Order: sequence, then C-alpha cells, then structure tokens
Amino acid sequence: MTKPVSICVIGSGYVGLVAAVCFAEMGHSVVCVDNDESRVKTLREGGVPIYEANLPELLKKHRGHGVEFTTELGSAVERSDAIFIAVGTPQGDTGAADLSFVEAVVSEIARAITSYKVIVEKSTVPVYTNEWIRRVMQRYGIDHALFDVVSNPEFLREGTAIVDFLHPDRIVVGAGSERAARLMESIYEPITGGSYYTRTDALLGACSSETPAKLLLTSAQSAEIIKHASNAFLALKISFINAVANLAESVDADVEDIAAGIGLDSRIGHKFLHAGLGYGGSCFPKDVAAFHWVAQQQGLNFELLQEVQRINDAQKDVFFNKVRSALWTLRGKKLAALGLAFKRDTDDIRESPALSVIKRLIEAGASVTAYDPAAMDRAKEVLPPSKQMKYADSAIEAAEDVDAVLILTDWKEFATLDLAELNRAVRFPIVIDGRNLYKPLYMAEQGFTYVSIGRPAVYNAQQGKPRRLIA
Ligand code: UDX
Repeated sequence: MTKPVSICVIGSGYVGLVAAVCFAEMGHSVVCVDNDESRVKTLREGGVPIYEANLPELLKKHRGHGVEFTTELGSAVERSDAIFIAVGTPQGDTGAADLSFVEAVVSEIARAITSYKVIVEKSTVPVYTNEWIRRVMQRYGIDHALFDVVSNPEFLREGTAIVDFLHPDRIVVGAGSERAARLMESIYEPITGGSYYTRTDALLGACSSETPAKLLLTSAQSAEIIKHASNAFLALKISFINAVANLAESVDADVEDIAAGIGLDSRIGHKFLHAGLGYGGSCFPKDVAAFHWVAQQQGLNFELLQEVQRINDAQKDVFFNKVRSALWTLRGKKLAALGLAFKRDTDDIRESPALSVIKRLIEAGASVTAYDPAAMDRAKEVLPPSKQMKYADSAIEAAEDVDAVLILTDWKEFATLDLAELNRAVRFPIVIDGRNLYKPLYMAEQGFTYVSIGRPAVYNAQQGKPRRLIA
C-alpha cells in the first residue's frame, strides 16, 4: 500500500473537484479549497454542483474523510505536501489565457507557506507559467528551497472525467527537481503501480494491474506544451474532417465512409473524426486560441491554428444554411432543437454550437422549442423562455407541430428516438441533423426528409425531391 500524501486542491470546478475526489479514491488525504462560499457549503452538505458520471458516488464515498471542503486556503496549504492549482484560466481579449486567478492563488500560497511544498499547475496554462509562479513566490521573498513548481496537465473529458482520471492514457509530469518528481510519482503510484485496479471497489476502465497507467516525466515547459498541443491537435482533427465533410457533400460522397476509411489507417485512428457542428466546450476553443497566442509571443506564426478556428466557426454557418435551404424562409417557422449542451453526457453549455445555432435562428425570426436531457436549466440562464424560445420536457414534446427537427447535441437518446412517434408529432417530417446520428436511407424509409453533415440529403417520398437544395 502506498503512503498517503496530504494534498490540497485549489478550485472546485470540473478539474479541481474531479482531481480532489480521485486523489481521495486513490487513498490520499485531500482538502479542496474554493473561495466561493456557497459552493463549499453545497459540497459540505452533500450537494453535487456539476453533472458528471460517477462524481456523486465518489463524493458520497469520500466526503468528510478522504476529502474535505473549505474556504480557508492558508491552513489547507500549511497541512499539505502538494498543492494543486485548478482554478479557471478564461480566454482574455487577445486570445491569451487570463492568469489572474492563478496569480491570486499563488500570492495566497506564498503568504501561507512555512515548509517545503510542491506547487502543481493543473489548470491549462501557457508555457512558462511555471516560471511566472516561481517569480511570484520570489517576489514574496519565499526561499527557493521551500517549494518546487510542477506542471501536471489534465486531459479529462467532461462526461467521462472520473474514469479518465483513474484510467488515463498517460499522466504527464513536468518537474524541474528530483524531489518534486518523486512526490508526484508517489501521488500517482496507486494507478501507475496498479494496486488501485486490484481493489474490489475500484472503478473499471481501460487500465488494469497488468496494464497500469503510464507516467511521463518531462520538463515543466514540455508538459505545458503537451497540454496545449494535445487539445489543438484534437481540434485540428475535428476541423479537418469538417472541411472534408463539406467537400464530400459537394460531390455526393459520404463523410462517414470517408472517416471510416481514413480512420482505419492506424497512424490516423478513427477517434475525433466525427463531422458535425464543430467543437465547443470549455477547452478546445480557448486552448486553440491560447496556443496560437503562445506561438505569436515567440515570434512564430502558427497560422494552421487560425485555420482550425476559422473552419470551426464556419461549420455553424454551414448548418444554419442547411436549415435555411431546407425551409426557404425562417421567419415564423417553428423548429425543435434537440440538444443544448456542447456534447452529450454533460450539462455544460460553454461555447456550445447548439446555442449559437439557436440564437441565429431566433434572430432570423424562427421560434424554437428546445429539449436537452441535462442542460436546460443552464441554457435558460442565457436563453430565457420567451415567445420565440420555449423548453419542452421531452424530444417528442419539442417536436410537436414543428416545421423541422434539428439535432444539435449527440446524446444517445437522440440517436434512438421513436421515429414513428416523431413523425406523428411533427408538422413536416424534416430532420436536420448536425451530429449525423442516423443513416440517411433509413431516415428516408421512415418517411423523413433528412439533411445531415457531409452526406447527401435524402427526401421523404411524398414530399418529392427538390432538384437541389440551394446553399
Ligand atoms: C476536451 C479534451 O478531450 C480533453 O482531453 C481536455 O482535457 C479538455 O477538452 P471536452 O471538452 O470535455 O474534452 O470534450 P471532447 O469530448 O473532447 O469534445 C470537445 C468538442 O468536440 C465537443 O463539442 C464535441 O462534440 C466535439 N467533437 C469531438 C466533434 O465535433 N467531433 C469529434 O470527433 C469529437
């Protein structure tokens, strides 16, 4: 059994909260700090502030013993050996990440530190942030022997964050000193040594005691870049397939077949080749912009990243134009929007392509009835119910008497709709699918006109096939 480490996690957002409960699950003693008093109160009292699979169970298991929650940063720092910074790094006006929350936290750590600590950047930060943290500590007169700064980026995906954390593809640790590297290794030992996976209460995933998690040791700068480069590369894959989808469509090819064909090349792989509305969420848009900014700061023009962003933005126009060309005019049209979250299995609507599309349709005079299994409360905060914006309790209710159904998020529920019921509910059987959840011919057989991304549109027999959808 590995020796438990005293860990402080600062920030109880997606990354901080998941890290805190997962370190507790590995057997460490964790204190999670947030300056948001009501959030800490919720967490202490048994609430779960975010929608994330396995999080309620792990919080229930560890709250109050393995992990405790507090607003007192100073005392939490004092009793911990490793301090993970997991606060937000929002996008600033220039595309650069705004590091003011990180700096504020580092200043507080500096005021509290009395013995050796490893300060770990878990938030996504630009290269050299480790150096800036060191400088802030020095500005406060902290002896460099009292701390090390380590970069340990997080690669978790919302919806599968807990399993991603405990069964990672890799753990990246950018450490400048042996002492800090050894402490980080001991923190992750339960999953790199494999003992966690032999426990009867372990969460199941890709790793096992025979194939435990791998830890890669690098310099802090390399670790910082690994995080940005990984997200930028995944975003690039998505933009690439979306650009191919637009080409496929104009020559009556099928992007799903193309993605399968290129994905079978083991050097390319099939993941992140799903064409659709483009990427959203709290990471890709922000990180691609931040990585571009980082390159610019070094005098390098990484234009490829700008193109990735341009294609991603244009993808929402592509979809909007599909709706317009399927319905001709939008003013007064009634539409069902299936999905609000930026992807399935989350209630997160940050940078959600679904919301941008809905906003544009409303501006164009359409009225929208939306349904999402998890994200409706959050969506109502930015798109309050109105004459043009309504919310329904089910997909079928949203589709009642509409001119077209739009699929905007890839929830499983939307891929398994009762199509006969859907057909009965709608006014016109037109489905415009921004996530390619159905096979076109099957939809035609079910009596729908079906328009998707990067695939030929198919037409409901009774409606007759227009010679060509006008772009
Ligand atoms: C991402 C990274 O995957 C994760 O490693 C990082 O730490 C944080 O950012 P997340 O934002 O939770 O995670 O979602 P992800 O599953 O990566 O999807 C991002 C966006 O890309 C979503 O809008 C999704 O719908 C879209 N996407 C993903 C596609 O359009 N096509 C794909 O093939 C894959």
